[in-house]
Amino acid sequence: MPYPEIRPRRLRRNAAVRRLVSETRVDPAELVVPMFVKEGLTEPRQIASLPGVLQHSRDSLRKAAAEAVQAGVGGIMLFGVPATRDERGSGGIDPGGILNVAIADVVAEVGDATVVMSDLCLDEFTSHGHCGLLTPDGDVDNDATLAAYAEMAVAQAAAGVGVVGPSGMMDGQVGVVRRALDAAGHTDVAVLAYAAKYASAFYGPFRDAVESCLDGDRRTYQQDPANLRESLREVALDVAEGADIVMVKPALPYLDVVAAVRAAVDVPVAAYQVSGEYAMVEAAAANGWIDRERVMLETLTSIRRAGAQIILTYWAVEAARLLRERY
Ligand code: PBG
Repeated sequence: MPYPEIRPRRLRRNAAVRRLVSETRVDPAELVVPMFVKEGLTEPRQIASLPGVLQHSRDSLRKAAAEAVQAGVGGIMLFGVPATRDERGSGGIDPGGILNVAIADVVAEVGDATVVMSDLCLDEFTSHGHCGLLTPDGDVDNDATLAAYAEMAVAQAAAGVGVVGPSGMMDGQVGVVRRALDAAGHTDVAVLAYAAKYASAFYGPFRDAVESCLDGDRRTYQQDPANLRESLREVALDVAEGADIVMVKPALPYLDVVAAVRAAVDVPVAAYQVSGEYAMVEAAAANGWIDRERVMLETLTSIRRAGAQIILTYWAVEAARLLRERY
């Protein structure tokens, strides 16, 4: 050994010293749990490809939100599944639409005890499943979609949401949403921008969760997985348009993007550990192939280490409880 005096293993020899020198801790306050609520359900329903995740009824959503607060999670991101869909996704804008009523329910239940957030996108509400409105040729019409997002943002803010999450990857969406919120007097509602969102196959189980009707793909608006610099452009635009928080999505396959974004901006950076990331671990664990809890915490630690300060994860409530016991 050339340097016998330097022995890194000294700092790994027992749990106490490892805890002392640990560089990264995941705090429950930084975890955000996505939740699904379906119009017309009287009982919650399991989502087959997302074991442990439910499509909630309005009642069960309120209870789950209260439990999430108990566990100490930092936020709840709401997704609505409507009973009927149309070309224009009007259920997302209608104040009586499932997502807007669910926002009001959850805000009434939890108040300011956690941050209530909502997905701001049309894909759950459109009959064609795209994140925007279509031209007669079937292309996604960027600017017509922006007008719909503006209305949707104001409806969500009126329902009491604290943070809106525009996730449709239309050009200019953050600026349009910010201006619409401000013009309606909702200057305190923050924008969590899905700034770098890739056209990923890891969203598969989510499409089951929201019963997406999409036939085709989202490659004309979501990013090519091959590109990193493009994410920095997207993030810079969103920050310039007024994003309060920027997000990278998916998380684990894109940790280089998380790290690059963290280095490039001074707003908080979030990462979304998406449905396919969760489902892969759950499936392997169900087969006894990996240690579920250890893998869960290792993935969250890695996302945190790469530079995400906020993590959206379907494990948020369980992980928050585990982390409380641990520290
Ligand atoms: C779009 C949206 C999607 C997800 C979150 N918001 C689906 C998509 O872009 O196709 C995916 C989340 C996940 O896979 O967990 N409203």
